Amino acid sequence: MKLSASQLLISLGLCGIATRATPTARSSTERSSTSWTTENGTKCTKFSLVVPVNATNLILEGPRVDSSFDAVTYAWDGDTWSSANATERIKGTISVNTAFNIAAQLCIPSSGGKSDILQIATHGNSFDKRYWDAEVEPENYNYIRAATNAGYSIFTYDRLSVGGSDKPDAYDIVQAPVELEILRGVTEMARSGDISRLAARQIDTVLPDFTKFVHVGHSYGSILTSGLLAKYPDLTDGSILTGFIINPHGPQYQLGVRGYQLASEAFPEEFGHLGSGYICPGAKYNLHNSFFGGGDFDPKILDYGWKIKQPSTVGEGRSAIALLGLTAHNYTKPLQFFLAEFDAPVCNGDCKEAYNLTQIRETIYPNNPVVEVHIQPKTAHGFTLHRNATGGYEEMFRFFGRNGL
Ligand SMILES: *[C@@H]1O[C@H](CO)[C@@H](O)[C@H](O)[C@H]1NC(C)=O
Ligand SMILES: *[C@@H]1O[C@H](CO)[C@@H](O)[C@H](O)[C@H]1NC(C)=O
Ligand SMILES: *[C@@H]1O[C@H](CO)[C@@H](O)[C@H](O)[C@H]1NC(C)=O
Ligand SMILES: *[C@@H]1O[C@H](CO)[C@@H](O)[C@H](O)[C@H]1NC(C)=O
Ligand SMILES: *[C@@H]1O[C@H](CO)[C@@H](O)[C@H](O)[C@H]1NC(C)=O
Ligand SMILES: *[C@@H]1O[C@H](CO)[C@@H](O)[C@H](O)[C@H]1NC(C)=O
Repeated sequence: MKLSASQLLISLGLCGIATRATPTARSSTERSSTSWTTENGTKCTKFSLVVPVNATNLILEGPRVDSSFDAVTYAWDGDTWSSANATERIKGTISVNTAFNIAAQLCIPSSGGKSDILQIATHGNSFDKRYWDAEVEPENYNYIRAATNAGYSIFTYDRLSVGGSDKPDAYDIVQAPVELEILRGVTEMARSGDISRLAARQIDTVLPDFTKFVHVGHSYGSILTSGLLAKYPDLTDGSILTGFIINPHGPQYQLGVRGYQLASEAFPEEFGHLGSGYICPGAKYNLHNSFFGGGDFDPKILDYGWKIKQPSTVGEGRSAIALLGLTAHNYTKPLQFFLAEFDAPVCNGDCKEAYNLTQIRETIYPNNPVVEVHIQPKTAHGFTLHRNATGGYEEMFRFFGRNGL
């Protein structure tokens, strides 16, 4: 498939254990320990995983970002028509053979027939795993709460470069191939029982034996998940890719709209420790444009989104090309693209007619009987932070349910 550069850039240890003898149920807004129990009896625990990675990253041409001034140059460099061919920017490869510390969380429902199904959720750019775990009005926005109430177990993690995970070189290391290997690594650890053994030391419940593993992504996390379907199709039993689909209508000027600045320069208190190439929307209204614009949302949730914002890296934007459009001949499990109706980064503000499902089936998933699209009404790119987010979650769980998951 032919893709323009902007389409390719779609951005898209501790202790403290709650025991059954002395139940210390904490609401999700007061998480002072590594393990807690929600009102509904869901048990959660957070931990750090060491994930070994062996990946082939790309050497990519393009300007460095050492200042917010450079960040504007970077956006123009990516957005102009003359820079449209991302393939020509690949100048070689780099082997990355190392291990990363990844911050993760596992939640297990108190009851429900699906606790043996583990959802593995990968967030997108500008956020960390809290994208799935809103602390404001959790009954209206928190995906983990909805998933556990629907009976699923769920694993979330901070992608490399955000939250509590390692923050290595933003150009050569934090790239799509390495992040795909991290997703593969955590999935293999979940499948082998390593994650359950780790969690069992911290969580006061009998962990279910996971028998099925499904993947949910948002935006860049969906690009990574689509890479998993193409390269490691046997590792998943079904997937939902939110905020991502390959289509010819990706906007041409999205990097400019995102208003990136150098994270350490724009937000020295939050991100002063981050190096060159770590970029972040410079103002709340940049986040508004890319994640909320056109959607039906409560302005105080935009404030919350801004409060939990995270940086992304120049390397991950440029390296998405390594995974986009890979054919997934061997992926035959159910797949749903879950699109926000008014998604700006993905569909230029209108996803309804933006994609060609027949072409996607033929070129990317030729052997897959179940590839569907759902359009979530009145939402923009950051759909978990919109009104009726829970209506969308129900739709996702119905899709899994229809397919025996
Ligand atoms: C890493 O991958 C390369 C290429 O697939 C392989 O040659 C090499 O042996 C691997 N190294 C390790 C330590 O797994
Ligand atoms: C991009 O450049 C590569 C390498 O020069 C070429 O093979 C490819 O056809 C170009 N793609 C487009 C869309 O022009
Ligand atoms: C508890 O879970 C049930 C379904 O399992 C749900 O109907 C109810 O709303 C949940 N309550 C809370 C506080 O999450
Ligand atoms: C797909 O399956 C074929 C036949 O089993 C196998 O040769 C090939 O390596 C598989 N490809 C991937 C990416 O798993
Ligand atoms: C969608 O793709 C199919 C297969 O490539 C093609 O036959 C069809 O004309 C396309 N539809 C539109 C509306 O472009
Ligand atoms: C909420 O989302 C569901 C699932 O997509 C949809 O059926 C319903 O119409 C939506 N409700 C509103 C008020 O938009």
